[in-house]
Amino acid sequence: MMRQEDRLIERLRRYGASDFYPFHMPGHKRNPAIGSEYTNPFEIDITEIQGFDNLHHPEGILKESMEWAASVYGADRTYYLINGSSCGILAAICGTTGCGGTILMARNCHKAAYNGVFLNHLKARYVYPQVIENLGIQGGILPEDVDKLLRDHEDIEAVLIVSPTYDGIVSDVEGIAQVVHRYGKPLIVDEAHGAHFSFGTDFPVSALEKGADVVVQSLHKTLPCFTQTALLHVKGDLVSHKEIERYLRVFQSSSPSYVFMAGIENCIYHMDREGRGEMGKFHCSLMNLRAELGAMKHLTLVDERWIGKYGVYDLDPSKIVISVGKTALTGADLDRILREKYHLEMEMCCADHVVAITSLGDRTDGLKRLAQALLETDRGLTDRAEDRALESSMEWSGRVTSRPEVEMTVFEGISGEKEPVAVEDSVGRIAGEFVYIYPPGIPIVAPGEMLLPSLVHTIWEYQKMGLSVQGMEDPSGKTIKVIKR
Ligand SMILES: Cc1ncc(COP(=O)(O)O)c(C=O)c1O
Repeated sequence: MMRQEDRLIERLRRYGASDFYPFHMPGHKRNPAIGSEYTNPFEIDITEIQGFDNLHHPEGILKESMEWAASVYGADRTYYLINGSSCGILAAICGTTGCGGTILMARNCHKAAYNGVFLNHLKARYVYPQVIENLGIQGGILPEDVDKLLRDHEDIEAVLIVSPTYDGIVSDVEGIAQVVHRYGKPLIVDEAHGAHFSFGTDFPVSALEKGADVVVQSLHKTLPCFTQTALLHVKGDLVSHKEIERYLRVFQSSSPSYVFMAGIENCIYHMDREGRGEMGKFHCSLMNLRAELGAMKHLTLVDERWIGKYGVYDLDPSKIVISVGKTALTGADLDRILREKYHLEMEMCCADHVVAITSLGDRTDGLKRLAQALLETDRGLTDRAEDRALESSMEWSGRVTSRPEVEMTVFEGISGEKEPVAVEDSVGRIAGEFVYIYPPGIPIVAPGEMLLPSLVHTIWEYQKMGLSVQGMEDPSGKTIKVIKR
């Protein structure tokens, strides 16, 4: 029988009362000042009763609410999403491509995009982001790379990129939109990590203002809103509202939560009235934090010095990305130090860096703790010897620059006859399942792709580092399903 103290709610309460500080989503950061309007969620939790409209056939208050939201954002249509950006990305992909058609997408898209490719049996052509030298971090997507692929492949129906990335890297969306529109195709931007861009002038400009046709934003990641809440915006006439709506009805729950929908409206209402000013103050505290972190000698803060290089058009300062590339630490090591010694929980760690999400839900004492912890850790480090640094830079460059060879579509890879083989014996075989570290959920290998030696090495190396390698059916991660020969 479950003990009282083992119940999830008890564990959550105990955790909430502890001194662990969140540098992860949701963007409200469990800040009590933010949730004051919500006493008991059951009080406002209803279903589609008379007078409260229906998200799937909005004619009343939800229609008005979403029209008002569209006017706040400058969109033609804004849809409330209660199944996260994931369902918006699925609807955007399926609503702009035909079954069995072709999409051009950035290879650093989230797994939700690959699920869309799978569901619509699409052929995916990939555009690769640049790689930031010596950091092991992906840069931006270049408009000229998108142009070349569109020129070479006339069958492409839509283009999907992610901007900002998990690491806060913003691509030249305006340049990419101009290219894509020259071919008469729609541009979808996964702006899951950029919902805050729409408010104030201190952060990068939202893709919606830069010419994208569909923009998907997770409110819960960087704004004060409940987990799972997101928005899909449509602008221009290259995308059929009807098709997007058809797929939103498929991918969203038929019982949309009024707690979430009220939360979405509340969040936009607050951001529109007071949020712009709050974003200005938040930006000031971020600049102070970033200036303090500039004193680090061994850890490297990813900052504006990379803007204008490696496809980095702009950078979201709210993502505190710390590279361990010059030190003997891995990202997983730094993540562990911050958690165990300082009780600071990061959003994500990769082989070479950690990511802290900050938002206007952060408290001054939290940001101070992050600065002190990183500066103190940095003081105890030394740079790697030259030869180790070289070796490491070769390791990361293999990790970030390997380009899997596509042998079959994601659908064919997932539905083909498969057999498990040991990871180390999988070189040269075609993957029958995804392999990714989560977060960020960008596939190292997608079904239908050839397992090149560099990719198998990467999987094995991530596992050795203790990173959360997921997607394989084998929970031990020792075997991977490949297509039977
Ligand atoms: C780039 C990106 N896109 C989409 C998603 C999915 O967003 P959601 O969790 O709101 O479904 C994520 C989630 O982390 C993401 O990182």
